[in-house]
Amino acid sequence: MWFVVVSALLLASVSVALKVDPVEWTTGLDDNYQNSPTQWIATSAVGSTIVVDGKKLVALNPDNGTVLWTATHKDLDATNSRFAVSSSTVLVGRGTKLIGFDVATGALVGTVHVDGNGVSAIVVHQDLFVVSGDGTVAVFASDLSERYSIPSTRGSFINSVGASSGYLYFTSSDFESSSDESYLNIVDLATFAETRVNDVMQASTTDADGNILVLQNSKPILGYVSLATGSYVWRNEKVAHEFENFEKFVFIPSTDAPIVIGDNKVFAFDTQSGNEVFRHKAPFSTIVAPTINEGRLVYVGTGQEGPTGVVAVDLSTGKDLGKVITPTLSTPAVAMSGNNLVMVNGQGYSRINIRKMEAESYNLNIPGASAIAAVRLASNPSSTTFVIAGLLGASAVVLRDV
Ligand SMILES: *[C@@H]1O[C@H](CO)[C@@H](O)[C@H](O)[C@H]1NC(C)=O
Repeated sequence: MWFVVVSALLLASVSVALKVDPVEWTTGLDDNYQNSPTQWIATSAVGSTIVVDGKKLVALNPDNGTVLWTATHKDLDATNSRFAVSSSTVLVGRGTKLIGFDVATGALVGTVHVDGNGVSAIVVHQDLFVVSGDGTVAVFASDLSERYSIPSTRGSFINSVGASSGYLYFTSSDFESSSDESYLNIVDLATFAETRVNDVMQASTTDADGNILVLQNSKPILGYVSLATGSYVWRNEKVAHEFENFEKFVFIPSTDAPIVIGDNKVFAFDTQSGNEVFRHKAPFSTIVAPTINEGRLVYVGTGQEGPTGVVAVDLSTGKDLGKVITPTLSTPAVAMSGNNLVMVNGQGYSRINIRKMEAESYNLNIPGASAIAAVRLASNPSSTTFVIAGLLGASAVVLRDV
């Protein structure tokens, strides 16, 4: 099978006393495309849940799983596409092609081509699609009209693309120049005015209070940069050399404590001064899917072998708030809402109460479970509907928030 279920037996042994959550509905997706390594699921502003089923998009009513529409296109293929949804359009990126579908009806909105070597990410911000990839940064409206694009002649290497608080930002270096010349470009999404910050190698892909974390290139300096002005709020010259040995690292700007994660280490900083406030080493070899939730860092810990699990760390003190050993996929898929973290595992999921840091329930009746989305329905304000895409269909469970 394409997915790797780590320590599934472990779940069976710890979950003896746990509750089994009933499945609210299951909609068979007639999936004749069962080897797909990628499934995707998202919730839309019109209230539907969109599932990718091999070469088809399927929109479901999250209340009862009724199929609202299905759509397909000759170039749609879940295995090597990227997906995103705005208030009115579902956008599929495959290679250099973008295909838009009406989120309410599934009708084709149009197709466009982008420059570069292929789309590797699409994010939605202020109802605009920010499309990026090797040699590509472009912004499209829901009708697929282009609002911004880097010049195709620039021949740039692009990384760290983010969009938040009204700005698009990315780091870039021109092919012909040395890496010292990699820089940060900040684009105001209202005016498309650009601010360049020289000597930035990497940047976070989200902001906190209008600031992003950056790593300077020539001298390793970690900094907090204001998106509005392009100037440094603080610089930390002591810590950045710690990141040199990490294969890759993740920046998470936060109003609690901006953090940098590399391999299995977490470094947290003071929002105002940039001084390091604590370090945390995970009891696993790798940290994945880190999220900040109400003053805590919650992440999935994985390793080459051995158990996997979920860990919470208090961001004001660095205190370890607990660890729950539970199986995950080789690419963990989790959704959080209220007190619940739901992590799919190829057979179903396990649910962890992230306040108590205890496993509370599970369901192992969703074969091939590989993608998950959380939906809050107006009809049930104190619960969240978690919709899970499996090999045979999409299933929903309704879990109380607290
Ligand atoms: C599903 O729920 C919608 C309302 O959200 C309703 O209109 C529809 O009739 C329901 N379908 C079934 C099969 O129950």
